[in-house]
Amino acid sequence: MQFLKATGLLLLLQGALAVNASTVLPSPTNRRLTTLPDIPSPAGPLKPTSHLEPFANVTGSLDDHGVCQCSVYLPDTAFPVDRVERIEILAQQLSVKFDIEISKVSQYTKDIELYEKRILNLTKKIEYLEKTSVSYTELDFQLIRLEIQEMEKLVTQLKVSLSGNNVIVEQLYVEIKNLSLMVTEVESLDKHNILAVRREIASLQRKLQDCEASRNQSTNHYFPPGTCSHGGIVNVSQPYMVQLNWRGFGFKQGGWGRYSSPLAPGKELYWVAPLTSARYIEYYRLHESFDDLLLFKYSKEYRYQYGDGSGAVVYNNFMYFNVYNSRDIGKLDLNTNTLVLRRALPNAAFNNRFSYAGVSWQDLDFAVDENGLWVIYSTEASTGNIVISKINETNLEVIDTWETRQYRPSVSNAFMVCGVLYATRIVNTRKEEIFYTYDTNTRTEGRVSIIIDKMMETIQSADYSPIDRRLYVYNDGYLVRHDLTFQPIIPA
Ligand SMILES: *[C@@H]1O[C@H](CO)[C@@H](O)[C@H](O)[C@H]1NC(C)=O
Ligand SMILES: *[C@@H]1O[C@H](CO)[C@@H](O)[C@H](O)[C@H]1NC(C)=O
Ligand SMILES: *[C@@H]1O[C@H](CO)[C@@H](O)[C@H](O)[C@H]1NC(C)=O
Ligand SMILES: *[C@@H]1O[C@H](CO)[C@@H](O)[C@H](O)[C@H]1NC(C)=O
Ligand SMILES: *[C@@H]1O[C@H](CO)[C@@H](O)[C@H](O)[C@H]1NC(C)=O
Ligand SMILES: *[C@@H]1O[C@H](CO)[C@@H](O)[C@H](O)[C@H]1NC(C)=O
Ligand SMILES: *[C@@H]1O[C@H](CO)[C@@H](O)[C@H](O)[C@H]1NC(C)=O
Repeated sequence: MQFLKATGLLLLLQGALAVNASTVLPSPTNRRLTTLPDIPSPAGPLKPTSHLEPFANVTGSLDDHGVCQCSVYLPDTAFPVDRVERIEILAQQLSVKFDIEISKVSQYTKDIELYEKRILNLTKKIEYLEKTSVSYTELDFQLIRLEIQEMEKLVTQLKVSLSGNNVIVEQLYVEIKNLSLMVTEVESLDKHNILAVRREIASLQRKLQDCEASRNQSTNHYFPPGTCSHGGIVNVSQPYMVQLNWRGFGFKQGGWGRYSSPLAPGKELYWVAPLTSARYIEYYRLHESFDDLLLFKYSKEYRYQYGDGSGAVVYNNFMYFNVYNSRDIGKLDLNTNTLVLRRALPNAAFNNRFSYAGVSWQDLDFAVDENGLWVIYSTEASTGNIVISKINETNLEVIDTWETRQYRPSVSNAFMVCGVLYATRIVNTRKEEIFYTYDTNTRTEGRVSIIIDKMMETIQSADYSPIDRRLYVYNDGYLVRHDLTFQPIIPA
C-alpha cells in the first residue's frame, strides 16, 4: 500500500501540471465516488474487514447471464473526496488549456519560419538592387516599403501574442506550483489510502471494460443449450478428431452423433454407424459415454438390414433413417433394435437421385435441432433443389415443408440449427464452407461464408446436436467433432 500511495501521489502530481488552482475550493458536501455505479457511499455502513487493504482480493467476474460484475466497499473516512475530485476535474480542464497553448507556440514557430524566408527574399532583392547599375525606379522602392510595412505589422502581432503567451505560461507555472502544495496537503489527509483505492477502482473498471469487450466479441459467448436467442453460427472450431470408426479404414462412409433429447438432456449416448458396402446402414454401435466411445467400449452393437446412406439421426431413443431402396422413413427403437414405424416421405427422390456432392445414397438426410426432427431431401417437382420438412416423430407425418432454391447435388452436406438450414460446399481437399442458409422461421435464404477445416477429403455426414451444440462429422471414416460459435443478438 505504501507503494501504491507513492504512485498515487506521482499520478496526481502529473495530473496537476495543468490545474487552475484558484477554483479548487473545499466543499462540505459528502459526495460519493462516481467511478463505479455500485459503490456504496463512503458514509454508508462500514464493513469490518474493509479497513485493511480493502481491494487486495477484488476481481471482476462473469456471471451466468454473461454480465460482468465486481463489488467494492469503500472505508468510511474523513478524507476530502470532493476536493480530490475537483482537483482531478480541474486538472483535466487545464490540461486542455495547456494543449491549446502548446499548439499556439508551434503556430508561432511556423510564423517565424515564414518571416525568416521573407526577410531572406527582401535581402536578396536589396542585394540585387545594389549590385545592378540599373537605375532604380520609384516603383521598386514603393514595393519594398510596402513589404517592410507588412512585416512590421506581423512582427508586432507576433510580439503581442508571444508576450501574452509568456504571461499565461508564467501564470500557469505559479498555479501549478500552488496546486502541487495542495495535493501534498490533501495526500497527507489520506489516512485510508483513498487515492490508492481510487486507482484500484479505476483498474477494476478497466478490467470490467475488458470483460465487457470480450463479452461483446462473439467468441466465448455462452448460450445455454436449448435456447435459440442468438444470431446463428458465426464460426466453426478446428476439427477435434475423436477416433477412426470401429470398423476400420475401409469404412469411409457413415455417420455418427450424440443422442439428442429434450427429455433427458443430461443423458450421454453416442452412436456410430459406418456404412456397409459404402451404402447400407447395417451394423451400428451405441456408447453410454464419451470415455466408452474413446475406448471402443459399447453397450450395444446391433444389426439392421438395411438403411440407405449416411443421413441417419438419433432422437429420443429412436434412430430415424431412410429405409433401403425406398422413400420411406424408418423409426428404429434403440432399446430393442426393432422397426416401430415406417412411412413414405411424400414425393421424396431416392436411390441416389439427388444426393449430395461427393456423397452417395444420402437422398434423405435427417437432422435434429432445438425444434425437433427434420428431413432434408429433394423432389422431382423441386427440380433437385433442397426441400426441408419438419417431421412429427410420433407418426412420421410431415408437419410443414419448405422449398429452397439451392440445388442439392451441388451441396456437400447440410444440417439444421434452430430451424435454420446450413448447407456446405467443398472449397478444396482441406476446407469446406458453409455458404448457404435457409431460415424456416422466416422462409428466407441467406449467404454466409464460414470455413470448416477438415482432416480428410469428404464430409460424409454432418449432424448437429442441440444437447451440446456441437457438429458431429464423419470424415472419410474418422469421427470428428467441431464446436460452434454463435452470434449474440445485439439488443436494439
Ligand atoms: C483560473 O480560474 C479563475 C476563476 O475560475 C479565472 O478567473 C482565471 O482566469 C483562471 N486562470 C486561467 C489561467 O485560466
Ligand atoms: C488474497 O488471496 C490470496 C490467495 O487467495 C491470499 O493468499 C491472501 O492472503 C489474500 N489477501 C487478503 C488480504 O485477504
Ligand atoms: C521568396 O521569393 C520567391 C521567388 O521570388 C517566391 O517564390 C517566394 O514565394 C518568396 N517567399 C516568400 C516567403 O515571400
Ligand atoms: C494558492 O492556493 C491558496 C489556497 O490553497 C490560495 O489562497 C492562493 O490564492 C493560491 N495562489 C495562487 C497564486 O493561485
Ligand atoms: C458492448 O455492446 C453493447 C451493446 O451493443 C454496448 O452498449 C457496449 O458499449 C459495448 N461495450 C464495449 C466495451 O464494447
Ligand atoms: C474461427 O475459428 C477458427 C478455427 O478455430 C479460428 O482460427 C478463428 O480465429 C475463429 N475466428 C473468429 C472470428 O472467431
Ligand atoms: C404428432 O402426432 C401425434 C400423434 O398423431 C399427435 O398427438 C401430436 O399432436 C403430433 N404433434 C405435432 C406437433 O403435430
